[in-house]
This record gives sequence, C-alpha cells and structure tokens, in this order.
Amino acid sequence: MQPDWLQLARQQSASLVAHRRLLHQHPELSFQEYRTAEYIRSVLRELEIPFRTVLETGTIATIGEMPPCVALRCDIDALPIQEQTGLPFASVHEGIMHACGHDMHTAMLLGAAALLKAHQERLPGTVLLIFQPGEEQLPGGAVQILQQNALAPMLPQMVFGQHVYPEAPVGTVALADGTIFASTDELYWHLRAAGGHAAQPHRSGDPIVAAAELVMHLQTLVSRRRDPLQPAVLSVTAIHGGEATNIIPARVELKGTLRSFAQEWRQWALEQIQQATRAIAQLHGVEAELEVRSGYPPLVNHAQPTALVRSVAQSLLGKHSVLPFAPVMWAEDFAYYSQRFPAAFWMLGVRPPELPTMPGLHHPSFAPSEDALPIGAALLAAVAWTALEWLQNSGSG
Ligand code: NI
Repeated sequence: MQPDWLQLARQQSASLVAHRRLLHQHPELSFQEYRTAEYIRSVLRELEIPFRTVLETGTIATIGEMPPCVALRCDIDALPIQEQTGLPFASVHEGIMHACGHDMHTAMLLGAAALLKAHQERLPGTVLLIFQPGEEQLPGGAVQILQQNALAPMLPQMVFGQHVYPEAPVGTVALADGTIFASTDELYWHLRAAGGHAAQPHRSGDPIVAAAELVMHLQTLVSRRRDPLQPAVLSVTAIHGGEATNIIPARVELKGTLRSFAQEWRQWALEQIQQATRAIAQLHGVEAELEVRSGYPPLVNHAQPTALVRSVAQSLLGKHSVLPFAPVMWAEDFAYYSQRFPAAFWMLGVRPPELPTMPGLHHPSFAPSEDALPIGAALLAAVAWTALEWLQNSGSG
C-alpha cells in the first residue's frame, strides 16, 4: 500500500505555495539561476536529502540507495518577459518572469521530495530529482547533463517530467503516447551584394529581391515537398535590410524556425533549405549564407511509462481526469531524456475551473492556479513510487 499522496500533499500546501511564490518573485534567466539553485539546495538540506551540483546552477538530489532507479525532472529557469499579472508576488526582476510555470515545476518537485523522503524506509528503490537549469535557451540544460553523464553512477530506468498546462482545468492531466512536441531549428540567413544606386540595379545585384523570392519559395517546402500526414512548419519570422528609396542595400538578414515531428524529414528539409538558398542567391547574383542552430529533438513519450502515468493519474484524480493531449509544435528539452531512457512527460491542468480560458504559456499575464501544486507534487511522488514497484516486479531492478 502506498501512502495517500494527495492527502499528504494537501497538508503541505502552505509550503508548496511559499516555495512557488518565492521562486516566482525572483525569476532568473537560463543558466543564471544562482539564487534559485541556492533556494532549492537550502530546502534539500533542510529535508536532509543529499544532492550534487551540475552545470553550476543545476542540482541532482537522491532519495534511496538501492536499485531500481527512476528520475523526476523539473526545469528551473524563467523568460525575458516583463510580468503583467499584477500579483502581490510578481517578479521583482525587471524584464524577467516565470511565464512558463517553471516556478510551479520546481515547487512541485520540492514537494515530491518531501513526500518521498518522509517514506524513504519503504521506498522500493531510488529516486533521482533533477532540478535542471536552462530549458528555455539552446543548447538547453538536458543535453549537457546527459553529455556529462551527470546522472551516474545509478542511471534511471525511467524518467518522468511534467509541465503546467493552461488549457486544462485544475484536477486534470493531459497525456499522450508517442511524439507530442516538435523538433526545432533556428535559421539565420545572411544575404550579401555590392549594394548601389537604386537606378542601376544591374550593377549591384539585389538582396531584397533575392530575399523576397527565397521567402516565397520556402512556402512550398511544407506545402509541396512533405507528406501531408507528417506535421511540419517553416516560418520566416524576420526580414531586415535597406534604409532609403534610392539605395539597393548591401545586406539583408532573415530569420526563421523549422519544426517537425520526424528527425529524418527534418534533416532532409534542412538540406532543401540550404539548396534553395544557394540556388536563389546565385540566380540573383548575390551571396547567401544559411546558419542553422539546431534545437531540441522531437519529444517522444514511450508506451510503458506513459501507461503507468495514466493509471497513476486515474487512481489519484479519478477516471475522467486524464484528458487526451493533442500534439503541438512546441519544443522541450525533456526530449533528450526520452531519447536516452524510457520516459513520459505529462501536462498538468492549471486553469482555474471557473475560467473558460486563461493567458497561455509565455504570456506576460500567465497566472496558473496554485491549487494545482499539491496535485502535481502528489503525482510526481506516486508516479516515481509506482514505477519503482513496477520495475521491481518486472525484474528489471
Ligand atoms: Ni516550459
């Protein structure tokens, strides 16, 4: 018999809210989460949970000593957004805000840590708690943690994570098997020409016309060169060039993003974009360079851990509280854990049930309901415990 996680979590609601508000008031940008890390570590010290530091501002805590082992991951960084919630505990850091709910994620993982620690003597294995820095900024904290083999010596046999979800009400979880978030690549084009008098275009080559044709041509990549059953999007999001009516500029800069659910198509599409860039530049007598900054891979939920989360959420919150999650073209660096380990990532409802809608993630007025805090903490603890039991029974411990 497992403890009554939800009841226990509700008893510590006050400390969950206190964690969350303190973190919310002092948000820090990716890889600069020094104060946040210090707070996390002070709570862990108080709970007498051993931990180690990773990537300076990351923290990996361990509860238990014996296999099997599972990991729970949260992200701790905030975004460069000026908060407009008007909350009494709004950000005191100018232009920085926890607008993606990572303050909630961190508070809930601290809550789960307290729950699991209180029952450590019965814990059927070991739980790693990953307080990960830098989710919002490439290359992201996850890939670096894995590259450094920072989870060793006891590697998790399953990894779980959750994200607040403003589209679902408090008390629900949205979940799906398979690919749920997209891969991302940032694209930067630099077009160069001699530049010159607008009355003599034949002398200079024209990067504006080349850019215009490139943008239009790129619209055919997703519409004409991709299997219609395969989701993908290519958006050109910035064009900068030129100043005056009588000058052909010497340079035009473009930016954009490519997102897809399939790694192979992603590689192929990047080559196509490269080729189109070269060909169109050549046609117009300009020079073009395409710089690709590779982002996160698609996030894939694995069948077994996803089924486990589903059944835990149903028994904790009720049969009808688990909603289907429709995949979106967001990106999340939890994807790297799911490339390496069996993993599942679920969306936790944070919309106040009395509201039909609320401002979404990355919005300056994003204000998730704190009633979700004990639910998320209980879910994390219950999922970890159930996964350890499952691993023991399946003999993979
Ligand atoms: Ni996020």
